[in-house]
Amino acid sequence: MYSHFLVGLFAATFALGSARAAESLAPSEIMARRRGPEIFNAVTHAMRQWGSSLHHNGMSFFLATVPEGVLLHHGNNNSESPTEPDWLAYEIEHAEGFARGRHGPPPGKGRPKDGQMVPQFNLGGRDTKYHPEYLQEDEDNETQGYLHVYRTSRPLQFLYIDGMSGGKTAMGTLDSQDYLLRGNNSSLEEELPWDRSVLGSKPPSRKGGGPMGERQRAEELCELCREWGLQGVIRMEAGFEIIKCDFSDGLEEIQALQRPNNTGDHGPGMGSLEVIRGLAERYQGIGAHRTVVDFSSMVSAFFFPVNLTNSDQQRPDLPRLTSTSQAELAGIRSYLTSVIHERLDQPQRSIDWQDVADMIVGRYADRIQYMAEEVDSIDTMAREVNFLLTLFIDHSKKHPDIGVGIDRCSNFYLRSIKPQTEADRLILEAFAVVTHHICATLFRIRDHVVADPTPDQLSLAASTSALRSLMDFLEWTRFKRCPPCDLGSVCTIPMWPMGTVEQYRTPRCTNGTNAFDGDSYWGIRPGPPGDGRRRQPLETV
Ligand SMILES: *[C@@H]1O[C@H](CO)[C@@H](O)[C@H](O)[C@H]1NC(C)=O
Ligand SMILES: *[C@@H]1O[C@H](CO)[C@@H](O)[C@H](O)[C@H]1NC(C)=O
Ligand SMILES: *[C@@H]1O[C@H](CO)[C@@H](O)[C@H](O)[C@H]1NC(C)=O
Ligand SMILES: *[C@@H]1O[C@H](CO)[C@@H](O)[C@H](O)[C@H]1NC(C)=O
Ligand SMILES: *[C@@H]1O[C@H](CO)[C@@H](O)[C@H](O)[C@H]1NC(C)=O
Ligand SMILES: *[C@@H]1O[C@H](CO)[C@@H](O)[C@H](O)[C@H]1NC(C)=O
Ligand SMILES: *[C@@H]1O[C@H](CO)[C@@H](O)[C@H](O)[C@H]1NC(C)=O
Repeated sequence: MYSHFLVGLFAATFALGSARAAESLAPSEIMARRRGPEIFNAVTHAMRQWGSSLHHNGMSFFLATVPEGVLLHHGNNNSESPTEPDWLAYEIEHAEGFARGRHGPPPGKGRPKDGQMVPQFNLGGRDTKYHPEYLQEDEDNETQGYLHVYRTSRPLQFLYIDGMSGGKTAMGTLDSQDYLLRGNNSSLEEELPWDRSVLGSKPPSRKGGGPMGERQRAEELCELCREWGLQGVIRMEAGFEIIKCDFSDGLEEIQALQRPNNTGDHGPGMGSLEVIRGLAERYQGIGAHRTVVDFSSMVSAFFFPVNLTNSDQQRPDLPRLTSTSQAELAGIRSYLTSVIHERLDQPQRSIDWQDVADMIVGRYADRIQYMAEEVDSIDTMAREVNFLLTLFIDHSKKHPDIGVGIDRCSNFYLRSIKPQTEADRLILEAFAVVTHHICATLFRIRDHVVADPTPDQLSLAASTSALRSLMDFLEWTRFKRCPPCDLGSVCTIPMWPMGTVEQYRTPRCTNGTNAFDGDSYWGIRPGPPGDGRRRQPLETV
């Protein structure tokens, strides 16, 4: 009912937004309500491999702290710690992918000097030809690889860039970095992993170099982090990583050991069961409190009256920043700067919004999906919906007030929240829209199958259809969970650069053997260099 009203308001706000100068661009509660599910999901997926892989176009930033004593890993070709901004992996096998020698001819002028930046993992076997980075390489002249392990010597503060922000794709995974944080210095469209310039022998055209602009990207992000008083950024690809701007600050090296000579015989190959198993271990969280996200510092493009529509009509589900003007992007960036300055020395976290989201998802997700997809009798439907709603109904009344019931239900998990920051207030608006939608739908179903004295198959069909719409509205990635896998396999989804279209549609248990069979979800194509084949669009997702 009020969605039309919101759409109207959105259009009006949006028109105003483009007309006015960027300084007046401010986050708005109207937008937070309009994009309630997106904001709810961004909070739910923070620092989680599963949700951030499936909803891979991140539009949000958070301050995040890595406490003292956390182990982080770095692979390179020598025993020294990096002296420039460089990468740290949360997981051992992720860093092992980089713990190898330099490829190609000796470094010379104009040669990107960051050959270690995209994981090669085990380049033995046929997997290699699928790896975009490998396709750029000439014959190998491998030198020794080293795996460095560090522990944080004090709490370190980072900017967490959500979604699959380490995925070098043109699908929008880099938008928040390249368009929003870096302004015009985007390395996008013309240098995609599946583009001739990368697949072929043509050298990358952009200045600054590095695979897919990564070196330049890291340097510019670190430039910003220095201004902000941060240690770097946290991103995610197949595994979480940190771009650490200064390895000499806040890290203590605890070991740096040379890797075996022939990596082909050692270590897990990319896409192997062991690598996927390690990634899956982080599906629902980075684990062991290794990173504390300050949700009250959230800054999201979702909060602003800007156009996030994807011009790729095949993927309306993926937000983009490609239709957002330079002035609007600058406006969001300057708001982000002000939030960082404000929150930097605050307690790490005032409200754990992810806990709130988890309580809501945990209560409703499986039940909603069960009712939508499996329940085929009115009795069962009535039992399920009664179970969920009885708490909110005053049974002393013969005709309980449904409006009051919906309010009780909507506010139930939000009651104890006391917003402190503007982000808190915006997140609260977003969450309230989500819970209201759930509760209003459930009460409507109750009307169909409980309150109706003579429910029939039509009541059941109406209930199922309402539940399916609710699932579409929520877009919870939990709905894509695999059934339990046996110990020799793992539920697999696309995680850049791995994964297939099929795995995106329907995640399944795999043992890693066929990790690269099928159409690459990310458009990474095998085949002769420079054949210019492009990503097949997804027909339906
Ligand atoms: C690898 O090293 C050998 C011996 O130093 C050299 O002759 C050869 O040209 C190198 N290959 C490449 C691709 O740099
Ligand atoms: C190690 O890699 C760096 C660039 O990452 C390169 O400059 C250097 O020559 C390499 N060292 C060896 C011994 O190959
Ligand atoms: C963009 O690149 C230019 C030149 O390389 C640099 O001076 C500028 O600071 C960069 N902008 C951002 C936002 O990093
Ligand atoms: C970005 O590009 C536009 C148009 O090319 C230009 O007007 C604007 O000044 C640029 N902004 C930055 C931050 O470089
Ligand atoms: C590894 O290879 C290098 C050069 O090929 C050789 O000098 C070294 O002895 C080898 N190390 C081991 C442990 O085999
Ligand atoms: C938003 O962007 C999309 C895709 O570029 C475009 O089709 C649409 O017209 C834009 N909407 C508005 C209100 O400008
Ligand atoms: C993995 O599963 C495939 C079937 O999908 C099977 O052919 C293969 O033998 C299995 N590999 C191992 C190591 O179990």
